[in-house]
Amino acid sequence: MKKLIHLLLVLTLFQFTCSTEKTNNQQAAIDTRVNALIKQMTLDEKIGQLIQKNGAAGMDSLVRAGALSSVLNEIDVLAQNQLQRVAMEESRLGIPLIFARDVIHGFNTVLPIPLGQAATWNPDLVKEGAAMSATEARSSGIRWTFSPMIDVTRDPRWGRIAEGYGEDPVLTSAMGVATIKGYQGEELSGKNSMLACAKHFAAYGAAEAGRDYHTVAVPENELRDVYLPPFKAAVEAEAGTFMAAFNEINGIPATGNKFLLSKVLRDEWNFKGFVVSDWESVRQLVVHGYAHDNKDAAYKSFTAGCDMEMASTCYETYLKEMVNSGVVGEELINEAVRDILTIKFKMGLFENPYTNPDDYPAVLNDEHKQLSRNIARESLVLLKNESAVLPLKKDNIRKVAVIGPLADAPHDQLGTWIFDGNKANSTTPLQAIQDYCGKDKVIYAPGMDISRTMNRTGFAKAIDAAKQSDVVLLFIGEESILSGESHCRADISLPGLQEELITEIAKTGKPIVAVVMAGRPLTFEESAKELDAILYAWHPGTMAGPAVADVLFGQESPSGKLPVTFPRTVGQIPIYYAQKNSGKPASDETWERMYEIPPEAFQLSVGNTNHYIDYGFKPWFPFGYGLSYTSFEYSNQKVEKAVYNLGDTIKFSVTVVNTGKTDAKEVVQLYVRDLVGSRTRPVKQLEDFKKVFIAAGDSAEVDFSVPTNSLGFHDQEMNYVTESGDFLAGIGSNSDLELNIQFTIK
Ligand code: GLC
Repeated sequence: MKKLIHLLLVLTLFQFTCSTEKTNNQQAAIDTRVNALIKQMTLDEKIGQLIQKNGAAGMDSLVRAGALSSVLNEIDVLAQNQLQRVAMEESRLGIPLIFARDVIHGFNTVLPIPLGQAATWNPDLVKEGAAMSATEARSSGIRWTFSPMIDVTRDPRWGRIAEGYGEDPVLTSAMGVATIKGYQGEELSGKNSMLACAKHFAAYGAAEAGRDYHTVAVPENELRDVYLPPFKAAVEAEAGTFMAAFNEINGIPATGNKFLLSKVLRDEWNFKGFVVSDWESVRQLVVHGYAHDNKDAAYKSFTAGCDMEMASTCYETYLKEMVNSGVVGEELINEAVRDILTIKFKMGLFENPYTNPDDYPAVLNDEHKQLSRNIARESLVLLKNESAVLPLKKDNIRKVAVIGPLADAPHDQLGTWIFDGNKANSTTPLQAIQDYCGKDKVIYAPGMDISRTMNRTGFAKAIDAAKQSDVVLLFIGEESILSGESHCRADISLPGLQEELITEIAKTGKPIVAVVMAGRPLTFEESAKELDAILYAWHPGTMAGPAVADVLFGQESPSGKLPVTFPRTVGQIPIYYAQKNSGKPASDETWERMYEIPPEAFQLSVGNTNHYIDYGFKPWFPFGYGLSYTSFEYSNQKVEKAVYNLGDTIKFSVTVVNTGKTDAKEVVQLYVRDLVGSRTRPVKQLEDFKKVFIAAGDSAEVDFSVPTNSLGFHDQEMNYVTESGDFLAGIGSNSDLELNIQFTIK
């Protein structure tokens, strides 16, 4: 036996050595080719590699002159191949172009919005979705996507919360890494591989007041502890590119921020890819009031470490003269060109510059649609299910009323940022419910034309449909245009007259199952009291209908968990689980309720805590929350040892029993608290999670291994440290759990 183990070890070591050697040899070969090419390039041709423009039309002369490096938003393969042929055969050095596109959550087969994908808490599934998206995008000649968006945010007013993975660095990192690996595959040169882009670097989701592009002011240690970890994970996952963000951070716009783009990204993290600006974010340094003019913007952005300029023309206009006058060293230009050419060689672009769509499977094929359906199913979060009104049993239903425009909104169910999704390919919930139940059982009454309507004329029909039914499926929420870039809301309640419609339908006394389509958490706690069940669907993509019907009628138990805290009211924002304790934390005992305060009451000292007298201190639903059609019982939460040394790996375990009658998946979550630190620490932080399938009546032993190094933070001197001391941990079904495990790090 020992000999066998020894042999296996030798073989593994040999394999590892070989693969490392192979990678090193590949890199050396690429370095040689890049350096040889740079030696031949003129300054104009070098600067040409730093330029990205929109669309292929009219670009021939630029490409022939070697003055263009990448084209975004050209998806006509013929036009791409024609322009690429100019680059390969008519330019002096034959350097290929990279064709790029925002492939954010699917290409032709649209997946749930990223916030919905985060709600699956299933990185493996998300990775599959990214790989499928890459295959479809590649069939249209897209070699580079501006995704994943890994901006942590704690502000649902911000429209782009829809495009990221929520409030937590660990969940966001897991989803970002899965997406990068899904896009890029094993090799960037793979036939189905697409270059990823970690964006928007950095802290774009911390925009003041949830206003897009707005000011970001975060202390460096919070920046490093909360907003940067997903980007560091992206570097470790070998994301080939980063995108500089629009926003400023503490007064320095990200696109001209040397601390971010050079010190952190390259010096500290050893990032080897290249950085592209956001759309005209180089020129916007002038608008920020950080650059005097476009020439100054070119200088500040390029010398900060932004290699490629998207859309604006500062680099092509001013870099050459700044090199010739010695203001910018040509070696700096060479470094940026080297990073870009290295990626182009790794992508295999020099060997395979063209696209033949026949090399790829048909888009929107059954396999792709099934995968989209599977991801959408796991993205659905069951927030309420009074008296187990769900799952519905088709045979027990004489009539079902489907109400609300979002039940049959093939465009809106696709969500924000779907350049290449087409509503013609959508299956809506109404269609799926009719297919499943039979049209004769379904009464559809939109009640309104769109979610924002202030027009009640459709209410009567909707109420009548409810009266004729045994159960009401009420589709509420936001159209897709109400979230996404520059679509922020100061009031995140249900738009229009939807809450009034809920009240009117509730008067019929029929059970109401609400399905919410939205790009963010919404606040409707009061009217939700009139709902028997709430299934939060985000914007589920092409296969929204079948996925929602699958869960509503019990083909699959919901397993989604909230990737973001749901506030009770917009006034509570920012509200998130990983908050600090403060010196006077609120509790149910100390919450002094506004309408119970006696007249002329005196300011009490004992009850003074960090609550609101009107909305208390808790959210409507906590981070990580989501119900199931079964019930899970947690027991034996424990840690292997009571005392650890720095450098150890801490082992946790828990027993989870499916105590119900339905097979289901559960997301087991591990939270840890560092009780005392040289800086105050959050009351809990997600350290790890595992999604497990447990058959009805079965149990699962779930283990977690956490290196002590994961429990650190950036101290006042910006050193990442794990400090010795006492810790608490808890393992459960969402973040609102007791930390009942104690351990110490010596
Ligand atoms: C934008 C977005 C960015 C996107 C880029 C190209 O304005 O901020 O996320 O990738 O333009 O479309």
